[in-house]
Amino acid sequence: MNKKSSVARQAPAPKRVGFTSGFGVLAATLGSAVGLGNIWKFPYLTGANGGAGFLLVYLLATLLVGLPVMIVEIALGREARANPISALQALAPRRQPWWLIGAAGMLAAFLILSFYSEVVAWVFAYVLKAMRGSILSSDPHVTEAAFSALIGDPLQSLLWQWGVLVFIGSILLMGVTRGIEALSKKLMPLLFLLLLLLCAVSLSLDRVVDGLAFLFKPDFSKMSAAVVLTAVGLAFFKLSVGMGTMLTYGSYFRDDQNIPVTTFCVMSADLCVSMLAGIAIFPAVFTFGFAPAAGPALVFITIPAVFSRIPMGQWLMVVFFVLAAVAATGAMLSMMEVPVVILHERFGLSRTSAILLTIVLLVFSGAACALSNSTLASFKLFGLNLFDLFDFVSSNIILPAGGIFIAVFVGWVWGRDKFRLALSNHGQLHNEKLVDVVFFLLRYVSPLLILIVMLKGLNLF
Ligand code: TRP
Repeated sequence: MNKKSSVARQAPAPKRVGFTSGFGVLAATLGSAVGLGNIWKFPYLTGANGGAGFLLVYLLATLLVGLPVMIVEIALGREARANPISALQALAPRRQPWWLIGAAGMLAAFLILSFYSEVVAWVFAYVLKAMRGSILSSDPHVTEAAFSALIGDPLQSLLWQWGVLVFIGSILLMGVTRGIEALSKKLMPLLFLLLLLLCAVSLSLDRVVDGLAFLFKPDFSKMSAAVVLTAVGLAFFKLSVGMGTMLTYGSYFRDDQNIPVTTFCVMSADLCVSMLAGIAIFPAVFTFGFAPAAGPALVFITIPAVFSRIPMGQWLMVVFFVLAAVAATGAMLSMMEVPVVILHERFGLSRTSAILLTIVLLVFSGAACALSNSTLASFKLFGLNLFDLFDFVSSNIILPAGGIFIAVFVGWVWGRDKFRLALSNHGQLHNEKLVDVVFFLLRYVSPLLILIVMLKGLNLF
């Protein structure tokens, strides 16, 4: 099973834990990719940016930049069997500071987790509210008011966020194999099941055709450089790449795991979940007269109103938010694992202390986002409150920039031979052609494409 690698590894710990089965690797990686990105971000961004046209650009970005960077992050992680900082230090030539990508990734993890954990907090709160039946109303104004009341209440926002952090932290305490892997194996199949159930309901609605047309009929009138950048940012966000998450998970991959095939499966399944979420949401949005461009509040406002008009709606709504909670859990685990493993391996903290310290730091940085619709609502930078700012900066700047640096590192420093060796499982697989295509994309296409999209999208050029 575990072949001895011919390359001397500078692994810091002799018996480093990892994922144990092929399915476990797939489930955990998919668990990271599938998250609120599919169920919350993808629908509202697609809704706000014109539907199918946006979808098409997002698909291209996923294939041309997201997927190659994902493959490479996992390969780097598995070669080094270490956290992002140590891994890049071990793989780069001496005295070249590529480990800074890992350090930047750790900061990015805190930035993303700060707002992400707050959205998860809303989801958890909505599971409870759905069970109580307190938010079910056919009047959009009522559901909107209910959502505003939640996000505008500083105490509720903070408490739910702390609850989420403690919940995720306790799964991480169980470890990589018994926590992350074991749970993902159970949650991923459940997620698909719940999603299919919701799609079946949605496809029986009156205006299903309008909803599907919006999702599948391209209209490029809303296209702009900023929208293309948003699509690229979403592609990175969806695949969890650009900040070391996939590198960290790669370090837990089995030696005999076929990396290109696994990443392709994860990308396809992740895309499926996004599409299914779109199919579950947009017919309903049109049937009940909502605006598809409602923004981040879209699912929280439309879903309760939609389900109030369907038999057994209350319980279907519970299903929907449980589904979102399940998806969010795997993604949160993977993001928090980055600072945890860095603090553990680089700074010598025990895993338990590393988890506790990460939670404490997130309580502070997360409060900036939790309070951004109440106490700190008037505090704005560049016209955005802190929640929106953290979201914008991480997706549209940090992740794509991280992608550029990783691609340049592999394409121009680490080089083709080592890349080939890593992706062929040190000679076990014969996938040179495929690997060469990915390498070409990484060396010439991805970095340039991302750079142009960033400069244009941020209006710097
Ligand atoms: N991909 C996850 C989602 O769709 C979010 C996520 C997990 C993430 N790890 C990440 C995003 C690392 C950026 C970077 O919800």
